[in-house]
Amino acid sequence: MAERATVLIVGAGPAGLVLGNLLRANRVDTLILERGSRARVQTRARAGFLGANSARVLTEHGLDAGMLHNGHLHATCAFRDGNGQFELDYSRLGRGEVHTVYPQQHLVTDLIAEYLDRGGRIRFEVPVTHIDPQTATVSYNGGEAQARFVVGCDGSNGISRRAVPAGRHARDHGVAWLAVLAQAPPSMGTTTYAMHDNGFAGHMARGPHVTRYYLQVEPDEDPAAWPDERIWAELRLRMRVDRFGPLREGPVTERRIVRLRSDVVDSLQHGRLFLAGDAASLISPSAAKGANLAIMEAELLAGALTDALARDDERALAAYSTTCRPRIWRAQEFSHWMITLLHGPADGPDAQFQRLLRRARLDSLRDSRAHQDFFAENYVGI
Ligand code: APR
Repeated sequence: MAERATVLIVGAGPAGLVLGNLLRANRVDTLILERGSRARVQTRARAGFLGANSARVLTEHGLDAGMLHNGHLHATCAFRDGNGQFELDYSRLGRGEVHTVYPQQHLVTDLIAEYLDRGGRIRFEVPVTHIDPQTATVSYNGGEAQARFVVGCDGSNGISRRAVPAGRHARDHGVAWLAVLAQAPPSMGTTTYAMHDNGFAGHMARGPHVTRYYLQVEPDEDPAAWPDERIWAELRLRMRVDRFGPLREGPVTERRIVRLRSDVVDSLQHGRLFLAGDAASLISPSAAKGANLAIMEAELLAGALTDALARDDERALAAYSTTCRPRIWRAQEFSHWMITLLHGPADGPDAQFQRLLRRARLDSLRDSRAHQDFFAENYVGI
C-alpha cells in the first residue's frame, strides 16, 4: 500500500522546508522525504546571507524568530586590491536593502521544528530512488508514496531534475574556491572581496565566533593540501594584511572545494512534478544567491499549490515556471557579473587585457553612484 499525502516534497533543505511550512500554514497535508539524518541536515554549514526578499518571506510567514534573535543585519562590503580599498554601504544605495547573516544550518533547524509544530510529516534517512511525474508517485527503499503533487527540492544532483525532460543550461565557470570555515571572529566589519595576482580571496561573517573565507584555487586542488597554516598564510597575502591590518585567526573546521557552476532547467514542471531550489536552478556562490532563489521559488510555489488545492484554480501553478524563469536568470546574470569582476586568467595572451578591464570596472564601482546603485539593487535583491 502506497503512503498518501496531498503534496510530497523530496529534500529538506531551505527550498523543501520553506515550502512545507507555507503549505502547512494553509492546512495542506504534506510529507517530506529526506535522504539525510536530522542531525546531518541540521549541522551542514552552507550559505548564510539572506537577501531582503528572503527576510520578508520568513517574517511574513512567521518563520523569523531564530533569525531575529540570532541573525545580524549586514550592510557593507569592501573591495581591495593592489591600488587600495573602498567600501560600499548598500543600506544607502539602490533600494536601501540589507542582508541578514544567519547560518543556513540554524535556519534549517528552525524550519524543521516549526514544520513539525505545524503538524507537518517528515521522514529522515529515506532516499527517494524514483519519481513518476504523471502519477505523482515516488519510490524509496522498500516503499512507495503517492500524492496530488510532488515537489523536487533535492538539490542539483538529486533525482527530481532527471525526471524532467526539459532542456538544461549548464556551465562550469572554470573557477574553483577553497571554502574555509574558521572558528574565529570576523576580521573586519565588512564582507571583503580581495583581488590578488595569486587569485581571489573572500571574507564573510557567519556569527560572532565563526567566519567564512574563500580562496580561489585550481579546480582539481585537493583540500588536504591546505593545512591551517597554508590557508592563513595565503589569506594574509591576498588580503594584504601588511596594508589593511591583521586577520583574526583560529582553527579551520571545514575546507572543501566549491566549483563555480550554473545549471538551470528550462521548465520547472513536468506533469505533476515541480522543481524548486538547486533542483531547478543551481547558481554559483559568487553573489550568495542560492538559498535566496530557493526561498523565492518556495513562496511562489506554495501560493500556486494552495490556489490549486483549496480553490481549484491552477492558473498560478501553470505559470510557475514562466514566473520564476526571468528571476532565475536575473540572479544568474548578476552572479556571472560578480565572477568576472573577481576572477580572470592568471596568464596567457588575454590575462593583462582582462586585468585592465576588471580594474576599470572596479574604478567605476568606486566612483559612479549609478554603478553603485546597480550593484546594491542586484546584490541584496533579485
Ligand atoms: N531523496 C531524499 N532527499 C534527497 C535526495 C533523495 N534522492 N537527494 C537529495 N536529497 C536531499 C539532500 O540530502 C538535501 O538535504 O535534498 C536536500 C537538498 O537541500 P539543498 O542542497 O540545501 O538544496 P535547496 O533546498 O534547494 O537549497 C538551495 O541552499 O544550501 C544552500 O547554497 C545552497 O544553493 C543552495 C541553496
